[in-house]
Amino acid sequence: MNDRVETVVKRALSAIENARTTAALEEARVRLLGRKGELTLLMRQMRSIDPENRPRFGALVNSARERIEKELDERAMALDAAEKAERLESEKIDVTAPGRMPRIGKIHPLTQGIRDITEIFVEMGFKVVEGPEVETDYYNFEALNTPEYHPARDVQDTFYINESVLLRTQTSPMQAREMEKRKPPVKVVVPGKVYRRDQVDATHSPVFHQIEGLLVDRDVTFTDLKGTLAMFARRFYGGEREVRFRPHYFPFTEPSAEMDILCAICGGTGCRVCKQEGWIEVLGCGLVHPNVLRAVGYDPDELTGYAFGMGVERIVMLKYGIDDLRLLFENDLRFLSQF
Ligand code: DAH
Repeated sequence: MNDRVETVVKRALSAIENARTTAALEEARVRLLGRKGELTLLMRQMRSIDPENRPRFGALVNSARERIEKELDERAMALDAAEKAERLESEKIDVTAPGRMPRIGKIHPLTQGIRDITEIFVEMGFKVVEGPEVETDYYNFEALNTPEYHPARDVQDTFYINESVLLRTQTSPMQAREMEKRKPPVKVVVPGKVYRRDQVDATHSPVFHQIEGLLVDRDVTFTDLKGTLAMFARRFYGGEREVRFRPHYFPFTEPSAEMDILCAICGGTGCRVCKQEGWIEVLGCGLVHPNVLRAVGYDPDELTGYAFGMGVERIVMLKYGIDDLRLLFENDLRFLSQF
């Protein structure tokens, strides 16, 4: 009787000791103590035992059960602790290790320039519109008071597709297109690509970007134009950057002017960047020529307007001190990632 209980206990203890994981230990627990477990089977043998020995047998089995339960619990705790320690070790994170920086893409400086510039005008109430790069001779020149004999129409400057279709040489044709499409007031800026027959060098490219501006309403004056552009310069170039307006000529504006900003390199005393001028030209502008208003069916006695146009590459190059325009088109990541 003793032996039978002792054998079961021995087997149980070695099973417990051999369980290497909590899962294996759980299996052993069921095998030993479960409804069909070895200890339960042992209890069933009670019937085959002499009645007077039964109490002792019962007590033996019970203490065997207690012993096994205790061993199981202890083993469970030990295994649990070991497994936790192992997990802690294998899942350890070195929070002091330096992070791996992902490569982040960037907006191209020209795109960023266009966004920055248009954003300033949007804040002043201008709408952003875009137009066709393949344009008619009519909108690119004729409607802009640029008659056939004008030097700007020289085939040297313009890519013609046929006699009356060309690649636009400026964003100005959108002035006429917008006025034709809308009732005044018209208040738009037009970013986009323009094309000219130029050899590539440090300051020229056959394709570049402009931003056109147009405001047409009643009683628009040169003062409005100066105020708007001075505000733009202050926002874009920062703080107290001085600007000046110089008389100039454009076919589609009268009077016309160019706006200069004070050279940031020399502060106005003259240097290589401003070609000893002290000032750097950044855009052309003027009051919309009455002929341009007439061409779109607006009455110049009733309406006036101003227009301006700027080259994006030039503005971006000045802002970042880039000395070769080609860098903006070569898309060398070593260059682009600096912005
Ligand atoms: N379209 C001119 C150019 O490409 C720039 C320009 C000058 C646009 C005066 C204007 C303007 O709207 O009023 O050189």
